[in-house]
Amino acid sequence: MIADYQALSQARVNAALDSLFDAPAPELTRLYAAMRYSVTNGGKRVRPLLVYAACEALGGRAETANGAACAVELIHAYSLVHDDLPAMDDDDLRRGLPTTHKAFDEACAILAGDGLQSLAFSVLTDSKLTPQDADTRLKMVATLAHAAGPAGMVGGQAIDLGSVGLKLDQKALEFMHRHKTGALIEASVRLGALASGHATQDQLNALQIYARAIGLAFQVQDDILDVESDTATLGKRQGADIARDKPTYPALLGLEEAKLYALELRDQALVALRPFDAAAEPLRALARYIVERRN
Ligand code: IPE
Ligand code: IPE
Ligand code: MG
Ligand code: MG
Ligand code: MG
Repeated sequence: MIADYQALSQARVNAALDSLFDAPAPELTRLYAAMRYSVTNGGKRVRPLLVYAACEALGGRAETANGAACAVELIHAYSLVHDDLPAMDDDDLRRGLPTTHKAFDEACAILAGDGLQSLAFSVLTDSKLTPQDADTRLKMVATLAHAAGPAGMVGGQAIDLGSVGLKLDQKALEFMHRHKTGALIEASVRLGALASGHATQDQLNALQIYARAIGLAFQVQDDILDVESDTATLGKRQGADIARDKPTYPALLGLEEAKLYALELRDQALVALRPFDAAAEPLRALARYIVERRN
């Protein structure tokens, strides 16, 4: 079921994303090519899937969430391009291909990331891709800006880079993971809910609890896969965290405890969805997928 839903939603967001990278002038061909490369190089599209699934859980139509789905993936792609830079994780493989700074060059990768970030917000203000009323669009912009910025993902990345070689306790590790990865996942669910046009405060609160749990679970599983998967399956270098002495859940708790913790977070997410009917089935399936995925 999730495989079909994933394929359909991936096709939907990929079609919408594809329309964003035509260079408006010949001088910008290389920059736009780097942006396109960074987005259309595969990727599971988990954040867009969450946008669509949250929208549909509240009775909205997925097509109306295309702008929000593109916006979260653009921010995510930018975060990966910068995360892979030599000044950050210094990785040369991403989604089975050379990282953007390897395929182009470092300055081009920095600018492509900057461009992707700006584009995310343009998409949310574009009434063709984001047909919601202006008030809702403003809420969406504020949600994404907060999640992507210094009090969200960027803040988490700063903590991550400042923690290399340190032993964080579980509270500090959780704080870092909730920021660097959880924030954008929480925003994805909220954007989907806002896109539906039907969200009550109770529903937003329940979805927030769901998203907080899977947002943390997603990074716990990412840490687990760094230990026990392989480079071909991951499409990125296995063992990179260990090589760089990053604080991770397996390093702190051990592999088996980290796995149990991921399952516990999944269960918390599923409990939060109890008030929802069958329309929330894709959200439930995504919670399971996040801790069962192999890449
Ligand atoms: C990887 O994200 C980076 C993290 C935030 C853990 P994904 O696992 O969603 O990467 P793609 O988009 O599928 O390549
Ligand atoms: C990345 O975390 C989180 C981002 C905000 C990009 P990681 O550094 O663990 O992601 P991967 O493992 O390189 O995909
Ligand atoms: Mg990193
Ligand atoms: Mg990294
Ligand atoms: Mg990782």
